Amino acid sequence: MTTARWESLSALAKPTLATLFAQDEARAARYSTLFEVGAGSEILFDWSKTHLDDAHIAAFEALAQEMAFASQRGALFSGQVVNPTEGRAAEHTAQRFVGSPVAVARAREDHGRMEALVKAIHAGEHGEVRHLIHIGIGGSALGPALVVDALARKDAKLDVHVVANIDGCALEAALAKCDPATTMLAVASKTFTTIETLTNAESALAWLQAAGVANPRERVVALTAAPEKAQGWGVEEGRILSFPESVGGRYSLWSTIGFPIAAALGWDGFAALLEGAAAMDRHFRDTEGAANLPLRAAFADLYYARLRGCQTRAVFAYDERMALLPDYLQQLEMESNGKSVTAEGAPLEGPSAPITWGGVGTDAQHAVFQLLHQGTNLVPVDFIAAIAPGDALDPAHHRILLSNCFAQGAALMAGQASEDGARAYPGDRPSATILLDALTPASLGALIAFHEHRTFASAVLLGINPFDQFGVELGKAIAKRIEAGNASFDASTQALLERAKIA
Ligand code: F6P
Repeated sequence: MTTARWESLSALAKPTLATLFAQDEARAARYSTLFEVGAGSEILFDWSKTHLDDAHIAAFEALAQEMAFASQRGALFSGQVVNPTEGRAAEHTAQRFVGSPVAVARAREDHGRMEALVKAIHAGEHGEVRHLIHIGIGGSALGPALVVDALARKDAKLDVHVVANIDGCALEAALAKCDPATTMLAVASKTFTTIETLTNAESALAWLQAAGVANPRERVVALTAAPEKAQGWGVEEGRILSFPESVGGRYSLWSTIGFPIAAALGWDGFAALLEGAAAMDRHFRDTEGAANLPLRAAFADLYYARLRGCQTRAVFAYDERMALLPDYLQQLEMESNGKSVTAEGAPLEGPSAPITWGGVGTDAQHAVFQLLHQGTNLVPVDFIAAIAPGDALDPAHHRILLSNCFAQGAALMAGQASEDGARAYPGDRPSATILLDALTPASLGALIAFHEHRTFASAVLLGINPFDQFGVELGKAIAKRIEAGNASFDASTQALLERAKIA
């Protein structure tokens, strides 16, 4: 039945963007939605420059029905098992207090402990703390890094550094900016077994020790779903902020993994981030059909991946403060939906997630946009910007930034004919624009939650499980065998090991 649905979707006419706009004067308004974030602040979601039309929307809505979207979404919010390969619920929305009563109660308790610790640190009850080195990787780093960089560039309550890579150059760079006498460490790991994080944490402790700090482990806060492992590693129970197993790593910035966010912004800022995300949760939970913003975005994503053969989708933040958003979305989307089997383990009949990539505007215009305008790959693009400037310089900066953002979407769509092939722009290239009134904790929370739900909606339409990530395990296991020094490999790998003298 689903295969038939994809066949009928493929068979639909695919008018050009110019035709879609010519046929419908109201298209810009009909395919745009203003989302109320709270306190009079809105986000505009404009999907009019994509090739979605009413026929495709209707067919995708029918697909959603066939894939039991409403009941899958209900299962997500009510804490049922939605990650069957690991037998787990996925309760990140409960961290925003939208979810099953049991999960919400646990989240309130965990957040209460985090709030008390953050406020005590700010009140000086833990001595003078000026720097926080947050050590974690993947989902235990990308969210905090994004949000701190976006919202705490000015007036941060603490100087936060996020260290992920096992490459010692990463930790050294952070240590060089911190004074050991006033530095606290947050060790963030859902499993508390990740080699990169534990190795970096040991080295950071050694740095404190070498600087003469008495009892360096008392400077550590552990953020984890495995509190017993953190205790075993030497963190005292009172400084372990735990969260439930049912919060996935790449969905965890709302949990105690968000400790550095609260430390940098203050508790009210963190609470506003959660509330913005909760507003998007309620919209996603309660809105039917294509009026549901994450679901409509998933329709567009699958239209391009499945019906137009697009292997990538690009995201450009026209806002320096959101420069880390493409990195964050790469993990969210590619680790969630980069699968080739269904939730039941059967091979997928078509592509799953495209490759997510992107950068920051206007920089990217002068580097990679050539391919977007004239290359042979069709790449759907999301532009993300804020109307209110983040800087206090001449307003020309922000005006030029936004003009360029909007110009790119217009140019991709309109193209330009020329007798000279090298100077011709084919046009009819899609983009969506997400325009925030202002970048605030609430709007960023809503924006990130929008992407979480978009990823989930795509997974439901594809019939895959977005909440496991077994694809990362094989490489880890092989690296362990190399570390143990008791395995032999293919001739190429063996030669590399010998040349680097780690065999
Ligand atoms: O290796 C992938 C992964 O498991 C991610 O899913 C996760 O976010 C990251 O590693 C870090 O894991 P942990 O928080 O358990 O240290």
